Formats: sequence, structure tokens, C-alpha cells
Amino acid sequence: MAKEGADMTEETEFMIDKNVGKGLENVESSGNAKEMRAVILAGFGGLNKLKVTKKAMPEPQDGEVKIRVKACGLNFLDLMVRQGTVDNPPKPPLVPGFECSGIVESLGESTKGFEIGDRVMAFVNYNAWAEVVCTPVDFVYKMPDEMTFAEAAAFSLNFVAAYMMLFEVASLREGMSVLVHSAGGGVGQAVAQLCSTVPNVTVFGIASCFKHAAIRDSVTHLFDRNVDYIQEVKKICPEGVDVVLDCLCGENTGKGLSLLKPLGTYILYGASNMVTGETKSFFSFAKSWWQVEKVNPIKLYEENKVIAGFSLLNLLFKQGRCSLVKSVMDKLLCLYEQKKIKPVVDSLWALEEVKEAMQRIHDRGNIGKLILDVEKSPTPLMASDSTETSEAGEEEEEPEGDNDSKERMPFIH
Ligand SMILES: NC(=O)c1ccc[n+]([C@@H]2O[C@H](COP(=O)([O-])OP(=O)(O)OC[C@H]3O[C@@H](n4cnc5c(N)ncnc54)[C@H](OP(=O)(O)O)[C@@H]3O)[C@@H](O)[C@H]2O)c1
Repeated sequence: MAKEGADMTEETEFMIDKNVGKGLENVESSGNAKEMRAVILAGFGGLNKLKVTKKAMPEPQDGEVKIRVKACGLNFLDLMVRQGTVDNPPKPPLVPGFECSGIVESLGESTKGFEIGDRVMAFVNYNAWAEVVCTPVDFVYKMPDEMTFAEAAAFSLNFVAAYMMLFEVASLREGMSVLVHSAGGGVGQAVAQLCSTVPNVTVFGIASCFKHAAIRDSVTHLFDRNVDYIQEVKKICPEGVDVVLDCLCGENTGKGLSLLKPLGTYILYGASNMVTGETKSFFSFAKSWWQVEKVNPIKLYEENKVIAGFSLLNLLFKQGRCSLVKSVMDKLLCLYEQKKIKPVVDSLWALEEVKEAMQRIHDRGNIGKLILDVEKSPTPLMASDSTETSEAGEEEEEPEGDNDSKERMPFIH
């Protein structure tokens, strides 16, 4: 499967190389277009709330960069946005997506540091899943020449989050040990790669069993997500571990804390356990909240333990730490150029295939990152399905859960 990911990256590279001329032509000729395609979330809920439609072309405001998007990152967080499980989302209809890569098409007044035609990757506070995006210059970074657009869309959120948790929050150093859940996912693989840049770091990864063959070499010890990982880790390290990275929440909070060595750090950075089906489950939400260990600081003092939380999007969009994130991005791009890290791309999907792409995450099928490739055409539908995902401009609603009966042909052969 990891091999499959690598092949797909090559395929993207090929697709993009083939289209270089076309891309630049677009940059010049698209200046007058009044509309663009975008994925719209019509309301919070299941996959049927997503559709591709036409939207007014955005124009860059003062200090913004207008990007002709080539690829967008699809994150677990986007499933939570769709379900309405995140804090204070904008009111739908909204365009989801927090990161993309592409080519600078124009600059707002007083925007400095970029030129038309630059290859860039960017964070966007929603609105990334579109053909064109405008975002403040502080959230835009130049791509290395050798990086593909798919890799760039898989890079920013996963690697910046992984780096900041390991090095800014947990001060990872030589000889330490790290436990990471969802080790085969986008963040999980970034964590594994970054740990390998520090000598003698032991990584305990937890992932669904079928991913083990593909990701075994990326971590030191790998456990099935269904086993009692506390017992397994303690058999190897009776003292526990230095860092626990918990993106699941619920009962894993208490388990993670119990695994910490003295002076160890537990970081909560997600709540994947709250997603148990296609739509928001109040039961899972309440269960996760209820199961979280209520921690007494006096106990932390006695046991010499550190608890932290980390949210990259809040750091960027609510807490104004974009210059810190920029400095982290510079370090990460050095590591990329030294070939010490490389985003793992699971698969590429057309905008019109966004439902199937999300379903793949719900099914726990991904190894690495899913990418929406804006220039990719949807793969032909199976004969059994003639009413799949809405094409641009279509507005019809599908009954919830209808998606189950529909399948696309494999997107890469
Ligand atoms: N705080 C931050 O700044 C930040 C930034 C990025 C991501 N995150 C969080 O980090 C986690 C990983 O994000 P990602 O985007 O890299 O996604 P990802 O790990 O690629 O997500 C998919 C994987 O998550 C695992 N998983 C765990 N619970 C699941 C559930 N209820 N439904 C489906 N899959 C589940 C599955 O792997 P296994 O079956 O192998 O476990 C699945 O393949 C998420 O919780 C996300 O919200 C936080």
C-alpha cells in the first residue's frame, strides 16, 4: 500500500508535468473568468451534503494571494467539519478545506514576497476545495522545485502539526520514546518520519492491522488498534514512554497518561473517536467527553507529568502565530530538501469524487494522505450507478446513506 502511495505520487508528477504548459496558459487566460468550480457543503451531515458547483471567482484583498489551485489536502478534520462536530464552523453553505497547493495567479494590493507564476502551498481558513483560492500572504509558502503539487497539498498540515507537537511542545530529543495512534494516517506518517530525524528515538505506532505490512518500517514497534496497547508497550518499556500523541480522545486520554514516564508529555490533538458513522453521533460525542480522564493538577505535580493540547488551525487562524508556523515550515522544507522527510500520498481524487474520498477515510482505508486533484477528471462510474456525485452546477439532493450502493471504478490502474 505504501508502494501504491509512492506510485500515485509519480502519477501526479506525470500528470502535472504534462500540464505545465496548460497550467501557465490558464494563469494568463483565466484572469477574466467570473466563476470557478468548488466543493460545497450544503449543510452539516452525511456525504450527501457535499456537491460540486459553480461559485463566484474570488479576488484577492489587500495582503492576500490568489492561487490557481492544483491539489487540496483532505484531512480527518474535514469529516468532522462535514458532520458539524467542530467548534464554531462558518454557517453552511460553505466550501470546506484548509490547505492547497497551486500557482500564484494575482496579488492583492500591498502583497509582497510572491510573484505571479510562483508554485506555492497554503493554509486557508475554509474555502480550499476550489479551483481558485485567496488567502493572506502569511499563510502562503513557496514550494521546492522538486516537490509535486500533490506532495505539497499533503505536506503543510500534517508535517507542521507533527513537528510542532514533537519539537515545540514535547521537546523531542535523542533516545526518547513516542507513542502515536493512527500511525498509518497523514499525521501518523509525518510523526514517524520526523522521529527518524532524531537519533535513537523509539516509536510505538498503533494502526489497523491491514496497514502493518506497508508501514512496519516507519516505526519501531507496531500494534493493532484492537489490542491492549498499554500491556504491549509495558512489556517492552516497563517504565512507559516520553511522549504520547493522542488524536483519539475518550478513554485513550487516561490510558495515555498512565503510559507516561516521569517528565513525560501527553498531547491531545484530535478526537477521532467522536466519528463513529457518516453523521454526527451525540452518543459518541458524549461517550468521548465522559471517558476523558478528569485530571487533578496535584496528581500531575506528584507524578511529574505534563498534559498539553495542540490545534494548528487555532494557532494559525485564531491565535495569530503565523510567524512561528512560518519558521517551522522553513525547517521542514530544509528537511524535505535534504530528503529526510517526504509526504506519503495515499490516493488522488477529482473534486467530484470527494464523497468517495471521504468514505475511504471513514472506512479506515488510507495509508497517508488523500488528495483532491483539481485537474483530475472523475473516474467513470460503474454501470450500476448513473446518479453519482453531482457534477458542477447540479443542485439535486440525495437521500442520506444512498452513497453506500455506489462505487467508482479504481482511480489509478
Ligand atoms: N490538532 C491539530 O493541529 C491536528 C492537525 C491535523 C490532524 N489532527 C488530528 O489528527 C488525527 C489524524 O488526522 P489525519 O488528517 O492525519 O487523518 P488520518 O490519520 O489519515 O485519518 C484516518 C485514519 O484515522 C484512523 N481512525 C481513528 N479513528 C477513526 C474513526 N473514528 N473513523 C475513521 N478512521 C479513524 C484510521 O486509521 P487506523 O484504523 O489505522 O487507526 C484512519 O485510516 C485526527 O484526529 C485529526 O483531527 C489534528
